[in-house]
Amino acid sequence: MDMRSLAEEVCAVSEGAGDILLRYFGRRLHIERKGLRDIVTDADIASEEYIRQELSRRFPDIPFYGEETGGASEGLRWVVDPLDGTKNFARGLEIFAVSIALVEDATPLMGVVRIPTRGITVWAYRGGGAYAGERPLKLDEGRPLDESFLATGFPHGNPELVDPYVEGLRRVLKRAMAIRRLGSAAYDLAMVAYGLFDGFWEYGLAPWDTAAGAVIVEEAGAVLSEIDGKPWNIYSPTILVAKKVPYRQMLHLLSRP
Ligand code: IPD
Ligand code: CA
Ligand code: CA
Repeated sequence: MDMRSLAEEVCAVSEGAGDILLRYFGRRLHIERKGLRDIVTDADIASEEYIRQELSRRFPDIPFYGEETGGASEGLRWVVDPLDGTKNFARGLEIFAVSIALVEDATPLMGVVRIPTRGITVWAYRGGGAYAGERPLKLDEGRPLDESFLATGFPHGNPELVDPYVEGLRRVLKRAMAIRRLGSAAYDLAMVAYGLFDGFWEYGLAPWDTAAGAVIVEEAGAVLSEIDGKPWNIYSPTILVAKKVPYRQMLHLLSRP
């Protein structure tokens, strides 16, 4: 099967998962604690179960890794976040996403991010361009930082990252037109590709948060690296992505010790 047909099938799966999330959204959820100040709901589990079943039915030879149930950790595999933005979802804030990537070792080959509350599916495969539904996404080179609208995420899960993160935030805050913290990294990345944000950076994300969004932003024409300019992969400790002009300024501000 060619990559475009594969991506179209994965878009359909992400949309099915998004519909499941919408059925849970705003209802009484079963919430459990997992990890440091982290939670999981019955909606996360139902979405992951659906995605796992659908992908293994359509692509029986490709192994699966999901945030909530684990699985294959090398080679060619799916890397899935069934609900990115769980805390938003649990509080009734409409900003959340489904993220599905096809990954080879540490490199995403294809990614789909579904934003069910906006009815938007953003997707890409390496070398094939990025799309919102059928519409190609082609970013321009952007404007200087004082005209740039940025997104970021806080490293709330790892107290050791707070001081270095805040130092970088302090510098960017003094230069950017505006910065938003929405609480869903997959949503943030999709919205850079979509042209809503001009750039995004975060520390301490996991492969399932970023794998799909990373290939989408690159295919849309944004620049992607770690915050110090090193090449990014799904295990990178930081991520920086922006249109070309603000990227250079963000890199300068964030990579300083
Ligand atoms: C979280 C979101 C959030 C980011 C966290 C992630 P989850 O994912 O992407 O924006 O700051 O680090 O863990 O737990 O809602 O899937
Ligand atoms: Ca996540
Ligand atoms: Ca999640």
